Amino acid sequence: MTDIRPATSADIDSLYDLYRQVARQGEGLARTEAEISRAYIVGFVAQALERGLIMVVEGEAGLIGSLHAYAPQPAQFGHCLSDLTIALSPDAQGMGLGQQLFEAYIARVRGQLSHINRIELMCRESNIRALKLYDRLGFVTEGRLKNRVRRPDGSFEDDLILGLCL
Ligand SMILES: CC(C)(COP(=O)(O)OP(=O)(O)OC[C@H]1O[C@@H](n2cnc3c(N)ncnc32)[C@H](O)[C@@H]1OP(=O)(O)O)[C@@H](O)C(=O)NCCC(=O)NCCS
Repeated sequence: MTDIRPATSADIDSLYDLYRQVARQGEGLARTEAEISRAYIVGFVAQALERGLIMVVEGEAGLIGSLHAYAPQPAQFGHCLSDLTIALSPDAQGMGLGQQLFEAYIARVRGQLSHINRIELMCRESNIRALKLYDRLGFVTEGRLKNRVRRPDGSFEDDLILGLCL
């Protein structure tokens, strides 16, 4: 039994635990576990509550997923949701939950944030699972940042820019 709902600041501790767990897995999130600070979580929750949207997936044992994005501060970008991150706990991955969460997120954006007409995100080229999900949701690859990501072994890979116009 899972519940997909908007997050509140009461979810910060659980989000902190979730993000550290996902970062520990390596590869998916840009930040390492050591780079996931409570201040980072507090910061994105505040920005998403102020000028974006954050939703979470609640499982029987607590939070198992989260998706947030928010508008960049210059007013000219106020119709965009950017700085997007989606993260499912390792046990909740590979079951289609990412799609359920993202579809619920887009539905809420369409219903409640009518000024938003674009969602954008960045994803490293090797994250095939995430790219397949974005493709299924209708995101289009709009650009490629060559060698933007440095892997733990010192090699580089490209970051892709994807956008969904609502
Ligand atoms: C990325 C993420 C949100 C995807 O959600 P999910 O519910 O796990 O995704 P799914 O299980 O539905 O998989 C999506 C697709 O990738 C495929 N897939 C799953 N694991 C895969 C793998 N290891 N390699 C290639 N494809 C894979 C699935 O078969 C599915 O393909 P389909 O659309 O053809 O059926 C989730 O796995 C996650 O949180 N990962 C860690 C953090 C992360 O990477 N965030 C994104 C940063 S850009």
